[in-house]
Amino acid sequence: MSKSEIRRTVLKARQSLTPAAVAGKSALILQKLLVMKEYRQAAALMVYLDFRNEVQTGALVADALDRGKRVAVPVTDVPNRRLIASLLLHYPDDLAPGAWGILEPKPECVRPLEPAALDLVIVPGVAFDLAGNRLGYGGGFYDRFLPCTRPDTVFVSLAFELQIRLDVYPGEHDCPVHYLITEDRLIDTGRAPGRRS
Ligand SMILES: Nc1ncnc2c1ncn2[C@@H]1O[C@H](COP(=O)(O)OP(=O)(O)OP(=O)(O)O)[C@@H](O)[C@H]1O
Ligand SMILES: [Mg+2]
Repeated sequence: MSKSEIRRTVLKARQSLTPAAVAGKSALILQKLLVMKEYRQAAALMVYLDFRNEVQTGALVADALDRGKRVAVPVTDVPNRRLIASLLLHYPDDLAPGAWGILEPKPECVRPLEPAALDLVIVPGVAFDLAGNRLGYGGGFYDRFLPCTRPDTVFVSLAFELQIRLDVYPGEHDCPVHYLITEDRLIDTGRAPGRRS
């Protein structure tokens, strides 16, 4: 299966999950993230805002704000295919649908945060292998953004089991994640910053 066929197949399968399944599995996935030390200790994190049956992140944003963490959300700079991390102060009031209908901060609420300030990034994706390689939506937005964070910034992806594939054909610019969490398991991809050689 080619990359574009994987994208199509996985997105179709994810789209066919019922709203109850998406909510139930998302809750199981967040339970695992919320007890991780990489989350507990993170003072600043970036969280994607889910759309189209992605693992839901609303409860995560609320929990992180409750704990007094700095929460940034991605803003897409479409012409340059870049992401800006924007500090979120009022959730959900600061947000409105932006590019592709994904929630983003309203223009007057964009407060750029240095990528180097981030301790943790929650990375979305379409399909993943067990080594943390990630197939995204094909824009290269996260592959350009993640290398701008610190060497010790932790990348965690949240995915349903149906998004885990044997091979996602990573290329040179593809940026793998350190942990992958599904409704069934927490996968340490063996790439955690503390163990980078
Ligand atoms: N760091 C980079 N510098 C320059 N070009 C890049 C970089 N990362 C990705 N690209 C380019 O962006 C395009 C899309 O990349 P790719 O197919 O890996 O997207 P993706 O991983 O699915 O998207 P995303 O990162 O937004 O989830 C490719 O043409 C790729 O060469
Ligand atoms: Mg990529």
